[in-house]
This record gives sequence, C-alpha cells and structure tokens, in this order.
Amino acid sequence: MNMSSKKILATFDIGDLKLKNRLAVAPMTRISATEQGSASEKMGQYYERFAKGGFGLVITEGIYTDQKFAQGYPFQPGMTDAEQALAWRAVTRRIHDHQGVIFAQLMHAGALNQGNRFLGETAGPSAVRPKGEQMKFYYGEGQYAVPRSMTDEDIADAIEGFANAARLAVGSAGFDGVEIHGANGYLLDQFLTDYTNQRNDRWGGSVGNRIALTLEVIKAVRAAVGGAPVGVRISQGKVNDYAHKWAEGEAAAETIFGSLQDAGVHYIHVTEHKAWEPAFSERGPSLVNLARRHAPGVVLVANGGLDNPQHAEHVLNDGADIVALGKGALANPDYPTRLVMNQPLEAFDFSLLGPIANIKDSELA
Ligand SMILES: Cc1cc2nc3c(=O)[nH]c(=O)nc-3n(C[C@H](O)[C@H](O)[C@H](O)COP(=O)(O)O)c2cc1C
Repeated sequence: MNMSSKKILATFDIGDLKLKNRLAVAPMTRISATEQGSASEKMGQYYERFAKGGFGLVITEGIYTDQKFAQGYPFQPGMTDAEQALAWRAVTRRIHDHQGVIFAQLMHAGALNQGNRFLGETAGPSAVRPKGEQMKFYYGEGQYAVPRSMTDEDIADAIEGFANAARLAVGSAGFDGVEIHGANGYLLDQFLTDYTNQRNDRWGGSVGNRIALTLEVIKAVRAAVGGAPVGVRISQGKVNDYAHKWAEGEAAAETIFGSLQDAGVHYIHVTEHKAWEPAFSERGPSLVNLARRHAPGVVLVANGGLDNPQHAEHVLNDGADIVALGKGALANPDYPTRLVMNQPLEAFDFSLLGPIANIKDSELA
C-alpha cells in the first residue's frame, strides 16, 4: 500500500460521527425514484453497494426540498412529506448495516428545472434564461424556460423547504447529516452567480449579498437538525456552464468560504472539474487550497477527477480531509476495498448513463 492510500484509508471524525475512511461517494442524480418522488427498492440496492464496498461516507443524489419550485427532474426523489421520508428509511438502514454514514443532499433546482410535477413555471433569482440546453439523459429537451424572478415570499418558501426537508431527513428518514446543494448552477448557485442574479435587493449585488441566501438556508437547516452535521457544496462550474469562474476571483473565494465558516457549517464540499488544478489562473492556488485558507476550522471535502490516487493525495496535501468520487465510484462501487487489496480499478464507461441516466440492472448484478 502506498502513502496516499494510507492517508485516505485513515478514520476521520465529522461532528460526532466516525467515518471509517476518507472516501466518500459524490452526489449523483440517477432519476430512479417513483413518479411521486419516493426512493425505490432499486435505489436501496444501488446505494448499499457503496457502503458494502467500503466507502466511509455516502452523499445522496440531489433530493428536492419542497412541493413548489424545487424539483428539477422527473423521477427525482424528494424529501417533502412523511411518505417520501419513510421511503428513504429503507435506504439509510442498508447503509447503516455496513457501518456506513449517509448524508442527504438537499437541492432546489431553481431555473434549471426540466421536470416539476407541482408547478408549470420555473423560478430563479432573475428572469434570465439559463445558458445551455436541458439535459437529455434526464428527459430534457431544448432550451430552459425563462424563470420568474422570485418574490420575497418565494424566497421565504424556498428557505423553509430546505429546513423542512432537513428536519425530515434527520428526524424521520434516518440520515446522519445533510448537505445543502449550493453548487453546479442550481438555485443557490444562481443567486451566487453574477449573470443569473440581477437583483437590486439584499440578495443581489456584491458577492457578500449573493451568498446571503445560502447563509440563510444554512441557518434554517442548522436550527432544524439539532447538532447533526450540515455541509454545503460549492463550485464555480455549472452543469449548464462548465467553465464559469467567479467574477471576483480570489476575493470571492475569501468572502464565500469565510462566510460559510462563520455560518457554522460542519463541512464545505468543493467541486471543480480537476480539483487539484489552480482555480483561477495558470498558477495560483486550487479551490481546495483557498477553502482551506479561508475556512480553516471546517472539514473540507474535495471532488473532481480524484479517482486517480495521486490526484487524491495531492488534494489531501492541499488541505482536504475527505475525497469524494463520482464516476470513479460508479465504475468501482468497491473502490475502498480495491485500494486496501491493491486491486486494479475499472475505468468509467459513459454508456452507463445513456440514453437515460437511471440506475441500470447491470449495476446491481
Ligand atoms: C450521473 C451524474 C449525476 C450527478 N448528479 C449530481 C447531483 O445530484 N448533485 C451534485 O452535487 N453533483 C452531481 N454530479 C456531479 C458529481 O457529484 C461530481 O461532481 C462529478 O461527477 C465530478 O466528480 P468525478 O470526477 O469524481 O466524477 C453528478 C455527476 C454525474 C456523473
């Protein structure tokens, strides 16, 4: 076993929870719930493989948080009522059977909504059509709709939705903690992003104002879950704008990471296409390094192309505590066991996600 795998396989505490290693499954939407948004038996089997394969932490796919604008995809699971919470119980139990830890990723799609069974229109910070096209592998087609600019009441409802979902996740569904999805172009990131947020009120303008909704959500979620761990996911790139960089560069990183730490999150999860690369210019620090610098007191999860153990070692040395794997975990649900046994890793095959990104029977065999 080499040095990188030693460090990555060491135990780690997050809040009162003990992780058996520093390997996490990154959140991945697989649209395999029922049409009503309840977690399915198939999802239970799918998630259990990761715990059985040795991952210390499993972060779920983005789960929608209210029965208004939050849902983004058909067959996306929700956490909005007792029935949906109960369905997740069967999933969390399977993870706990293997001494695994599981966090629910709470997601509001905002303007990146391509399948909401509650409301016909979409909503976001400002009436700006999202870049790019809807994702075909989540049943989307063509341009995104122009969202309606959220009213104060819409914003209050969205905050309350996150809090309610967090309460259900920890109180009823058996989750060990929650991750607020503040990344990748969804609602909270739409508020953070200069060109999608054109508001003149307290939610728009400076980066300090644009991160304010994320901070309010953190406050409400923390109050809802007692002492359970609360994390937040942050990125520059988006599913519909891959190469986006924060307009204010490193100054934005200082404000964002510093205020997230002040808001009392247990962990920050940063994701970049290649997490070990400089965040802004050709040289410069990585986003992992900037997060470590400006939020020295929080647990740091890093994600993005880290299935190569050398890259994982790099980000651990750069300040990360935990490494999250997306495609690497899909290709190797038993990645941690393979690392321990020194077994070769499988490469990810993109055809797994086509034509629709739902869970395939071949994954469960
Ligand atoms: C099929 C698929 C679904 C994803 N769904 C989510 C999601 O629901 N929430 C999220 O934060 N990221 C999502 N992501 C992004 C991953 O968490 C991760 O950031 C990305 O795959 C890069 O990490 P990797 O190089 O380890 O795959 C998804 C990625 C894939 C491949």
